[in-house]
Amino acid sequence: MSITPRPPIPSFIPESAPFTPEQRTWLNGLFAGLFGLQESVTPLSDADAAKLLGGLMDGAIQPAAGAEDDDAPWHDPAMPLPDRMKLAEGRALPRRLMAAMAQQDCSQCGYNCKDYADALFGKAEKRLNLCVPGGKETSRMLKQLYQELDGAPAAAAAQAAAQPASTLATPPGRGRDNPVYATFLRRRRLNKPGSEKETWHIDIDLAGTDLDYVVGDSFGIFPANDQKLVAAVLTALHVPPDFSIGDRTLREVLTDGVSLSPAPDMLFELISYLTGGERKQKAKRLAAGEDPDGDAAALDVLAALHKFPGIRPDPEAFIEALDPLQPRVYSISSSLKSSPGRVSLTVDAVRYEIDKRTRLGVCSTFLGGRIAPGDKIRVYVQKAQHFALPDDPAKPIIMIGPGTGIAPFRAFLHERQAIKAPGRNWLFFGHQRSDYDFFYEEELVAMRTAGLLTRLTLAWSRDGNEKIYVQHRMREVGRDLWAWLNDGAHVYVCGDALRMAKDVETALTDIIAEHGGCSPHDAARFVAELKSSGRYQADVY
Ligand SMILES: Cc1cc2nc3c(=O)[nH]c(=O)nc-3n(C[C@H](O)[C@H](O)[C@H](O)COP(=O)(O)OP(=O)(O)OC[C@H]3O[C@@H](n4cnc5c(N)ncnc54)[C@H](O)[C@@H]3O)c2cc1C
Ligand SMILES: NC(=O)c1ccc[n+]([C@@H]2O[C@H](COP(=O)([O-])OP(=O)(O)OC[C@H]3O[C@@H](n4cnc5c(N)ncnc54)[C@H](OP(=O)(O)O)[C@@H]3O)[C@@H](O)[C@H]2O)c1
Repeated sequence: MSITPRPPIPSFIPESAPFTPEQRTWLNGLFAGLFGLQESVTPLSDADAAKLLGGLMDGAIQPAAGAEDDDAPWHDPAMPLPDRMKLAEGRALPRRLMAAMAQQDCSQCGYNCKDYADALFGKAEKRLNLCVPGGKETSRMLKQLYQELDGAPAAAAAQAAAQPASTLATPPGRGRDNPVYATFLRRRRLNKPGSEKETWHIDIDLAGTDLDYVVGDSFGIFPANDQKLVAAVLTALHVPPDFSIGDRTLREVLTDGVSLSPAPDMLFELISYLTGGERKQKAKRLAAGEDPDGDAAALDVLAALHKFPGIRPDPEAFIEALDPLQPRVYSISSSLKSSPGRVSLTVDAVRYEIDKRTRLGVCSTFLGGRIAPGDKIRVYVQKAQHFALPDDPAKPIIMIGPGTGIAPFRAFLHERQAIKAPGRNWLFFGHQRSDYDFFYEEELVAMRTAGLLTRLTLAWSRDGNEKIYVQHRMREVGRDLWAWLNDGAHVYVCGDALRMAKDVETALTDIIAEHGGCSPHDAARFVAELKSSGRYQADVY
């Protein structure tokens, strides 16, 4: 991987100003971004620096949109964490904090990646374990970086720049910090018997919540852990389920208060205090992120307890050592215009086997099995930041969404049907097998027949010997895609962030080069322009 050398950051903040070296570097970077300067300049006087900071804090001076983010080469969800940290080496601490995030801008933490980093730096946010897609790897790196901040006073400008969701009064149901109760209505399996997948269409009733949403938004759900898993953890702890933890029982806290998935470093730290000899050393190494027995990735909380049998942690200390149970978000697959008062989701149930025990994705199996019609669940609407239908309903749209990636596009189609949008609609859908995994087949075929769906292009990866993915189909019809782009089409991608989204972008770039008759470099620039003008939007996870 080639690394572009970074120009030196000019020095605006005088050495005498009351900032730590870290804060000074960050502020210099911020002002450089504000003024678009690349070269060294004369430092400001103390008075001018104070004036600038004042302007920033009262909002009189606004950083140019994206001034810093255009310069975040690590902002790629497919890039492994060590590569991201390498690219951020030598940068100011907020930039390195940002590089440690999973780069999906998925908002599950309540921020985007950059704002979460800024909030941590400004100490307005203290929780280091909010990045769900980054998991332990991210929280470990954040912990390491956060030590550089220890003892430093809160950076006023950073606080001003990053208003964290948690300190703003979140209206009910409009963010993870203030969920509301909605009613689970029903689930319907989207795969036919014989499929290797378990994907559910979920309907939730919003009555009594005052919630609304627009297509493109996501929906946050607070899940509960599986009761069998909770019971197994209680057994391993040798503590009765009704043991009191504050005003709740241990069973209740284990059900919806803490994550029972990857065992956190803190749990191993706690275990190291309760064991001796070789076991103590092992626990210490696991707490430090090492993998002494080659099984670290398989250690959820229960497996960690089983690995160190006989320990008797104090239940309160045990709960303290676990991570809080985080909400999960799902792309909304309905439109309020055709489903008033309801929200629908399209959820792939995560189940896999390790050491003869079936591990459950906590939220997807909660939605896909553990709740019953009529149950109340804690929810919120997560507004999309950059994922929406074009303002002009006459614009053509191209939607690429294999697997559960179809979710927001079902919503787009329902919306466009309801408002009788004249624009053409082209959907690329793909999955494993045409016989079993054609989600919403009847609906899509009817939309195709009615003319709402101008084109429906399908890619089945396991129907034959050869893997056929959506990007293969895109290449086959590249000439038509190019024609749609020339007609002003907006392009949308949804689904797997790690491989699919990248492969789709590569295919689109190749198509533009081939049919637009330009160089790969110019085709890449064309795609970059589509992105910056909002004509190429992604909702990937
Ligand atoms: C903006 C956004 C939109 C989303 N939209 C959708 C959507 O429409 N539909 C949808 O289904 N999901 C969607 N997701 C993903 C969703 O939020 C959850 O991440 C997903 O449902 C898994 O959550 P979980 O709680 O069930 O699993 P978790 O308890 O979080 O477990 C998942 C983890 O299990 C591990 N794992 C999974 N499979 C294996 C395996 N085979 N072997 C070993 N380890 C494994 C991985 O570490 C994985 O990260 C979206 C995510 C985002 C950010
Ligand atoms: N971490 C992983 O390895 C991994 C992999 C897939 C999905 N996921 C996650 O699983 C969840 C649900 O997945 P899902 O139900 O939406 O479906 P999915 O498992 O993502 O699969 C949907 C379709 O996409 C195909 N596919 C696989 N790799 C692709 C690529 N590089 N480009 C284009 N298509 C590709 C699959 O084919 P084949 O499966 O036949 O190859 C399948 O036909 C999501 O959260 C997703 O991110 C994780």
